[in-house]
Amino acid sequence: MPDYCMIYTGDWRQGVRREGIIDLGPGYPDPALLPSGLLADAATAVLTRHAAEALSYGANTGPRQLRAFLAEQVPGCPPEQVVTTAGTSSALSGVAAELGRRGAVVLTESLTYDLGRQIFVDRGLRVEAVPGPVDDLDIDRLRRFLAGRREPVAFYVMPTFHNPTGRVLGVERRTELLELAARTGMTIVEDHAYSRLSFDQVPAPLWSLSDDREKVITLLSLSKCLAPGLRLGGVVGSTELLDRLARDGERASGGGANHLTAATVAHAVATGAVARHVEDLVGELRRRRDALYSALAGRLPPGLTITRPTGGYFQWIGLPTVAYEAMLLAAAENLGVSFAPGSRFGSGHPGVRLCFAAHRPDDLIFAAERLVRAAEQIG
Ligand SMILES: Cc1ncc(COP(=O)(O)O)c(C=O)c1O
Repeated sequence: MPDYCMIYTGDWRQGVRREGIIDLGPGYPDPALLPSGLLADAATAVLTRHAAEALSYGANTGPRQLRAFLAEQVPGCPPEQVVTTAGTSSALSGVAAELGRRGAVVLTESLTYDLGRQIFVDRGLRVEAVPGPVDDLDIDRLRRFLAGRREPVAFYVMPTFHNPTGRVLGVERRTELLELAARTGMTIVEDHAYSRLSFDQVPAPLWSLSDDREKVITLLSLSKCLAPGLRLGGVVGSTELLDRLARDGERASGGGANHLTAATVAHAVATGAVARHVEDLVGELRRRRDALYSALAGRLPPGLTITRPTGGYFQWIGLPTVAYEAMLLAAAENLGVSFAPGSRFGSGHPGVRLCFAAHRPDDLIFAAERLVRAAEQIG
C-alpha cells in the first residue's frame, strides 16, 4: 500500500526547526507528548458511529461534553456558560472585536503574551502595558492607569502560569484585582492557556472568585494540555457576550469551531481518555521541570535570578540588563542552545524564557549546562 503520508510536504507545521540547536524558545509541546493514539481511536469511533452528526455543521456553541471539560477548569461554571472556540487565539480575536465595538483600551501586564497583544493591536485596539514587578502585579499602578479615563478599559492578564514568567498570582492579588474592576468598571480578560498543567494547588480563576461575573472573561485552551493542532479552546463570559459570539454570522454560517475535531475530543472526554492523558502529561512535565530547574538552580552567576515553576511550560531566568540578554542569547546559540528573550514580551524585565515541555529531560539538562557555560563566559 502506498504511504499516503508522503503527501506531507514540509509546510504543515508552524516554525522552523533549527539544525544543531536545542531550541527552548518555542512554547510547543514535544511531539512525543501528543495524544495521537487517543485521538485516532476517538476519531475512528466518531466517524464509524456518528458520521452524520460529526460531518455536519456543529452546534454554534460546541459539543456539550467538550464544554463540560472546559468548564471543569472554572469552579462554579456550568457547561452552558462556555462557548467553544478555535483555540484561545480565536477567542481573543472575538473578544477584541467586542471590545473594539465598545471603543475600549486594553491594558496588559508589564510582560505579556506577545501574540495576545498582537491580536488586540491587529484588531485596531489601543494596547498599553502597565509597569509592575515580574513576579506580581502592581495594583496601585494599575489604579493610577485607570484614573480619569473616559473610555472603557479591559485588563488582559494571565493569573496562572504566566507566559513568559510562569508566575501564579496569589488569591489576595486576584481579590484586589476584582475589587478594582468592581470599582472602576474595568473588564478582566484572563487567559488560562496553561492552567490545567498544575503541579501543586493553584487559586481558582478570577471568574470563580468574582461576585460580578459579568465583568470577567475567561479564556481556555486545549493547545497546551492536548495538542495545538486541534485548534480548540473556549470562552466563559457574560450571557450577552456568549450569545453574541454564538450567534455571530461566522458561527451562524459555519457552526461551532472545528466541529469534527471538537466531536472527536468530546468523545475522548466521555471515555475518560482525555483526563488520563492530562494526568500523565502533568507527571511528565513535572519531571521535565525538575530536570531543568535542578540543572540551573545554584549554578547561575550572581545577578541571574530563578524561581521554581509550579506548573505550565516555562522556566524564567531574570537577567540584569537588556544588553546582557542579547549577549547571553548570542553566547548560548554559539554553544548550540537557544531561548526566547524576555524583551519579546515587553520592557523592563530582561530575561530568559525556557520551555521545558518541548524537550526530554536529558536534552534539558544538556541545554541548561550550556546555558550556564554561556552565562559564565559573559562573566
Ligand atoms: C498565554 C497564551 N495564550 C494563548 C495561546 C494560544 O492559544 P491557542 O493555541 O489556544 O490559540 C498561547 C500559546 O502560546 C499562550 O501562551
